[in-house]
Order: sequence, then C-alpha cells, then structure tokens
Amino acid sequence: MKLWDSRFKKKLNKEVEEFTSSLSVDKKLADYDILGSVAHIKMLAKCKIIKEKEARKIIKNLKEIKKEIEEEKFIFKNDEDIHTAIERCLTEKIGVLGEKLHTARSRNDQIALDERLYLKEKIKKISSQITEFQTTILRVARRYQNVVMPGYTHLQHSQPILFSHWLLAYLEMLERDKQRFNDGYLRVDVSPLGAASGAGTSLPIDRKFTAKVLGFTKVAENSIDAVSDRDFLLEVGSASAILMMHLSRLSEEIILWNSTEFGFLEIDESFATGSSLMPNKKNPDIPELIRGKTARVYGELLGLFSLMKNLPLSYNRDMQEDKEGFFEIMEIVSSCLSISTKFLPKIRLDKERMKKMAERGETTATDLVEYLVIKGIPFRKAHRIVGKILKHLRDSGRGLKELTLPELRRFSDKFEKDALKRIKVEASVKDKTSFGGTSPKQVAKRIKDWEKRLK
Ligand code: ARG
Repeated sequence: MKLWDSRFKKKLNKEVEEFTSSLSVDKKLADYDILGSVAHIKMLAKCKIIKEKEARKIIKNLKEIKKEIEEEKFIFKNDEDIHTAIERCLTEKIGVLGEKLHTARSRNDQIALDERLYLKEKIKKISSQITEFQTTILRVARRYQNVVMPGYTHLQHSQPILFSHWLLAYLEMLERDKQRFNDGYLRVDVSPLGAASGAGTSLPIDRKFTAKVLGFTKVAENSIDAVSDRDFLLEVGSASAILMMHLSRLSEEIILWNSTEFGFLEIDESFATGSSLMPNKKNPDIPELIRGKTARVYGELLGLFSLMKNLPLSYNRDMQEDKEGFFEIMEIVSSCLSISTKFLPKIRLDKERMKKMAERGETTATDLVEYLVIKGIPFRKAHRIVGKILKHLRDSGRGLKELTLPELRRFSDKFEKDALKRIKVEASVKDKTSFGGTSPKQVAKRIKDWEKRLK
C-alpha cells in the first residue's frame, strides 16, 4: 500500500517504484524527520487538532523508531522515502492513530524542513571546523614566524615575503568563508513547516509554535516559496565552492613547494603515500585529493543550479535529486577541513633554501626604487634607473647582491652607503611596514590580533 494509491485502479509498476524511490539517499535525514514530526505533533495537540493523549503516544513511538534507526534495527521496506518509511512503521506500531501524523502536512514542507534542520547543524559544524583550521594555521605561522621566502606574481619571483605572512593570507580567506557560511545560516534558519503542499491548510495550525520548538528564528511567510525554493542549498553550496577553491589553492602551493624544483618544504611520512612501482616516490596525495575533490564540489553545485533553473512553482519531483549531490558537498567540505587541520602542521620547511631562493631573481629591486623615491626622485624615473642597473648586472652575469657603491653611484648620485643594505632580503621584508604588509612587526601584530579573535 502507498500513502497515496486509493485513487488508483492499478498497482504501481515495480521498476517505477524503484525509479522514484529516494530512500537510499534521504535515509540520512531520519533524525531530522522525526524531530520535525515530534514538533508537528506537539503543535497539533496544542491546537486541539489531536488529543494530548494521542500526541503522547505518537511521540513515544516516534522516539522508539528513532532509536531503532540509530541501532540499525529498523526494517526499511520498499518505502518511497524516509517520510513514508517512518509513517509506515508508526502505523504498524500503533495502528490508525499513526495515520494522524500527516495531518496538516505534506512531504513537500516536510522535506524542506528536514533539509533545513540538517543544514543548520552542518553549518555550525563547518563553521567550527574552519575556526579549528584557522587556529592551526596560526600555530604554524608562529612556528615559522620570521622565515623569509620569495613572494610570487605570475609564479615569478616578485619580492621577499615572510612565510607566516603568506600563511595568514589563507587565514583571512577562511574568515570570509566562515562569514559566508554563517550568513547563509540566517536564510536557512526559517521554518517551512505548515506550508503543507504549497497552499497552506484550512486546519487551525500554529506555525510559529513548531518553528519555536524546532529552534527556528523565522517562519517562512509564503507557503509557495516555502516548498519551492532551494536557494538556501545553492547559497551554502556556493560558500562551499569558494571555500574549496581556497583549500585547493593552498594545496596547489604545497604540492609545488614540496617538489624537488622548489624544495621549500617536506611532508611528514605519516601524511604522504608511496608508489606501487617506483620505490623512490613520496607523494603529496592529501593536497592533490583536496584539489581533486574541489572539482567534484563544483560539479555538484552546477548540478543543483541546473536542477532548479526552469522549475515552475511550486514543488516538482525533480527536486528530489537535490540531496545526493548536496550531501556530497557537505561531506567533502567537512573531510577536507578536517584533514587539512591535521596535515598542515606536518609540513617541515627548509628555511635556508627558502631564503636562498628569495635572494634570487633580483627580488629587492623595488626596494632600491623606493630608496630613490625617498631621496626625492619621481617614482617613474627611479624605476627607470633601477631597470638600467639590472640590465647592467645582467650583462655582466651578476646579481643585485654583488653590487658595489661606486657602481650604484654611476646610475644615480642619490645612492649612499645605506642603499646596499636595502638589497638584503631581511631588510626588504623589514621595511614593508605599511598596514597589512609583510614586515615582521606587522605580521607579529596580526598574529596577536588573530590569537585574540580566535579564542
Ligand atoms: N522524496 C521527496 C523529495 O525528496 C519528498 C517530497 C515528495 N513530494 C511529493 N509530492 N511527491 O523531494
């Protein structure tokens, strides 16, 4: 028997039954489904739509079902979805009384409710996972606070920076990610329950009451909208895609820096894997997989957008296909944050090599330009003078470090002895004292600030 088949003369085709079932996916929502049902029943009793005694019995049995599902004792049959499975089991337990559960409710508002309850919990978890990762980033930044490395633009040496400054850039990105999740939460935190199948109901329900019992801040104000839209999934999915983009870029850098060519860092053996063929290999599989899983998140998000873009209001069965991909997004995000938090402290820097590389590629040329600017030379002219110095050096196959004062003075008499000091990478970094710059003082301040903020 189906929840809906009394108007049908024929029995449902077996393959159609399988084709339309979502149980294997929405099983995951069982806890939230029962939570919603308990609140709904409490409301029905409070509004005198069912009797107190009936409500107590239904709730008691719903809790039993919850326990059976948790202990994997629940027997799923060929139920269409989790809502049907729970109602079927309730009716098996308490007979016709169980048939009152669905009063003033549809699976349309029920599934929207389950998804919102699920998502509220997930957002809280992800948000706290982001904080944990940020805290780890901060710890690693502290450990290597004054390590100098080359900064890059176009993947070419630009100017020397502090490794800790580079790492804190990711901490900032993660903060915005967290804000995006927390902001999305505000729009998830709205109860659709009582919208019924989309028109509302003629029964005297109290939607504010169920919303309150379930911990929702708001009640959806339009019953059609309440069952039709999945923008809250898209919003959190988008926040997830952006977060994954950040994790993926971090991963990419770690992969590069771990290569023999860069040689900036090494990954602990317990967090690397080998090759079945080449005994020499130690591979950075964790960041590679994060990079790979990012692609899956994008794919699932695009699927969700495509799913929704031409659905007429209100509910359409297409929307059943929203869950599998979305669950996957949430799982990938959580697992990537978790492994990143464990993985990052397992990198070991080769500080000497990083500094040595920071000295290559004339990375302090801009410091000479700024030196001249302070001496009153217009920036563009100073830029040209230093450009000529670099050309001269390149002709004789030497680096900035090998410059002498008399040589410098051939290009501008503004150069004095202290100009040579500015060429050193440590000095270059130290001089970047502008707010948010890479000077050790600025970075130390940021670290202190963050330590307070993340506490
Ligand atoms: N399994 C459905 C879903 O996930 C639940 C809602 C079904 N509603 C309906 N009218 N058939 O969307």
